[in-house]
Amino acid sequence: MTDFNAGGGLKILVLGGDGVGPEVIAQALRVLHWFGGRLPLQALEMPYGLSAWRAEGAILPARTLAAVHAADAVLFGAIGGDYAGVPVDVRREGSILRLRRELGLYANLRPVRHWPALARSCPLRAEVAAGTDIALVRENTGGLYFGTPRGIETLADGRRQAVNTQRYASDEIERVARFAFDLARGRQHRVCSVDKSNVLETGVLWRETVTALHRREYADLTLSHMLVDNCAMQLVRAPTQFDVIVTDNMFGDILSDGAGAVAGSLGMLPSASLGAIGANGRRNALYEPVHGSAPDIEGLGIANPIGAILSVAMLLKHSAGAAAEADRLERAVEAALAAGARCADIAAPGEAALGTVAMGDAVIAALDRQAG
Ligand code: IPM
Ligand code: MG
Repeated sequence: MTDFNAGGGLKILVLGGDGVGPEVIAQALRVLHWFGGRLPLQALEMPYGLSAWRAEGAILPARTLAAVHAADAVLFGAIGGDYAGVPVDVRREGSILRLRRELGLYANLRPVRHWPALARSCPLRAEVAAGTDIALVRENTGGLYFGTPRGIETLADGRRQAVNTQRYASDEIERVARFAFDLARGRQHRVCSVDKSNVLETGVLWRETVTALHRREYADLTLSHMLVDNCAMQLVRAPTQFDVIVTDNMFGDILSDGAGAVAGSLGMLPSASLGAIGANGRRNALYEPVHGSAPDIEGLGIANPIGAILSVAMLLKHSAGAAAEADRLERAVEAALAAGARCADIAAPGEAALGTVAMGDAVIAALDRQAG
């Protein structure tokens, strides 16, 4: 297939990308096709990343970019690897950051939960981590990642100097805070806003803006504030205290990796990058596992596909409007884990590890069993 099919259901563009991306996405696709028998959806795979660079001289070829815009949702693997030979501008042009920005995906939702079946491989003690269910919302299109001026320059005295800029306008803060508040209304009604307002002006404005919005429109919810360094500690000391966390781009990047410890492994974490609700009632959306391309295990067939598979669950919920199917998929993952399915990253000492495909088999078998 070279194009989406008009009237063929939800248009899902699949970009495996680099490293273990294509391996985990292949399993996510099997799961998607399982649901494809029940929901109107179509998946289209397109070249992206280093393989596209080698084959056609672009990381994000024009036809792939066109498909990104034509799609209702993007299912994304990973980007990263040996980009030494790729000119910086070509690299920037094709980066995941460009996709986030170009699609206006300002809210990055990273759910973090504890899996009872993985208690033995979770680095946190069960009594600390049990019951954790956090929705981490990371601002995704602003801040230090995109602020200008930026660059590396040579000073008059010959020293080199690097500059990045942390910049936030109040509307950027407000829209992601609104997303977090709306999310909390369907959960435990608590939002913790994380900043560095004791040092940074961006943190001061962040806190003021979130507080004002809360007072104006979300006074039914409980809002707390936390400094980011304290939050890093609280996430591993007492993660069950959090419901929804909302924070800026850089802090969210760091905290979400840290929170991965609660889930047992970064390989377990899915994510959704979402934009504003458009005229058609739908948000632009990109779903990807939080782990990266992991070039050290590329091609070995051992990467954990659960982060990618759970990203499909997020897609079902947020883009296909199929919350019940999303739950069903989460329960299938739970059942596979309960039955002892483990990849190397979540296997406790003495437990046998499955490869990527075998883990996909285990989840599909659990789906089949549930469907009975
Ligand atoms: C993430 C990743 C990316 C980021 C990298 C690959 C650019 O770490 O999605 O968390 O920093 O946003
Ligand atoms: Mg990251």
